Amino acid sequence: MRETTRVAIIGAGPAGLTLALLLRRNGIDCVVLERRDRSYVEQRQRAGVLDHYATRIFERAGLAGEILTGAPLETLLELRWDGAPHFLDVPSLSGGRPSRIVPQQLLVRRLLAAVGDVRFEATGVALDDLASSRPRVTYTDPDGSSHELACSYIAGCDGFHGVSRGSIPPSELTIYEFDHRIGWYTMLADAPPPRYPLMAVSEHGYAAQFARGREASRFYLQYRPGSEDPFAWPDDYAWDQLRLRLGDPALATGPFTDREIVEMRSFVAEPMAYGRLFLAGDAAHIITPMGAKGMNLALSDAATLAEALIADSPEKLAAYSDACLARTWDAQEFSRWFTEMVHDGGIADPFRRKLARARFERLFRSPPAAAAFADLMSGTDH
Ligand code: APR
Repeated sequence: MRETTRVAIIGAGPAGLTLALLLRRNGIDCVVLERRDRSYVEQRQRAGVLDHYATRIFERAGLAGEILTGAPLETLLELRWDGAPHFLDVPSLSGGRPSRIVPQQLLVRRLLAAVGDVRFEATGVALDDLASSRPRVTYTDPDGSSHELACSYIAGCDGFHGVSRGSIPPSELTIYEFDHRIGWYTMLADAPPPRYPLMAVSEHGYAAQFARGREASRFYLQYRPGSEDPFAWPDDYAWDQLRLRLGDPALATGPFTDREIVEMRSFVAEPMAYGRLFLAGDAAHIITPMGAKGMNLALSDAATLAEALIADSPEKLAAYSDACLARTWDAQEFSRWFTEMVHDGGIADPFRRKLARARFERLFRSPPAAAAFADLMSGTDH
């Protein structure tokens, strides 16, 4: 079956759905192809914070009611060093630019409801004629029928493991990768959440605790990849480590309901465009969770691409990759800076531990340093 559309969007994650919503609300025809089924996409738990800049994307488009209603504003952030608490008031330090707590599955459900038609369980997606003015996407629907979409543009929003980036000739891409040599073991527990998002630096390693609803917490423990296997840790050991690293002997416990490993890696593919194909989100870049920028970068890419496509501006489309990459590298630098501070402060050599401590103290001593941190947490409009 052959059909035409203006924009073929590959992937229904935060990037693809935001792009589809912005395009459709501006009268631009698009088709969204998603490999997984609807319930898988709706239930996938990952990021949880929309920075202020990302919330502005929806506000500017008149979509705040549909997408942001009821999402709590962030308040303080607690950083502990060897058990001693320190608080950062990011919303006021950033001049009143609060982020919002929006679990990814809630954001995705709301985006899906607002977008409407998404073609789930589209398999064998292949991209062709990217360098021509009429690129094509072929795929197979769940009934086994083959489809061909002729379009003007393709948006590769299909995550790190998608097909889009791999459709670009390797000689056209430069890949930057970095292994932070840090592992995180994360546990979801039916244990009371902390008052504020909590990150703890300790000589035993990094730990964190974040609220997941009113009665659950997600905990994080740093481990040494290669020499430690946290899945072999007994739960009692994990709780001992959490009490030790959070500096809280009275930490309330509860059964673990999920355990995962989080990768601490960074990846950037440049440029984010080839011919009529534009990459957005994880398809082009992966960032560590420190600073919570992954989902926000995906949304920012989508907004920048939507603006260029809505304006139907060859200049804006040509500028898309550089604009997104500048923002991406800014976030990568912030994420690495934050990662070093809270991990080197723990189990690094004594010199790096001292550097991390100086970085940490500067945040609480110097208002401009705290404001710079808050500015990056809030997301900048560039
Ligand atoms: N064909 C169609 N869809 C595909 C294909 C394919 N070949 N490969 C992957 N997909 C789909 C995935 O099933 C997924 O739904 O593309 C979507 C990509 O979504 P994400 O991986 O969430 O990527 P993105 O939208 O860029 O958002 C990335 O959100 O959750 C955070 O940590 C995450 O920071 C990251 C950000």
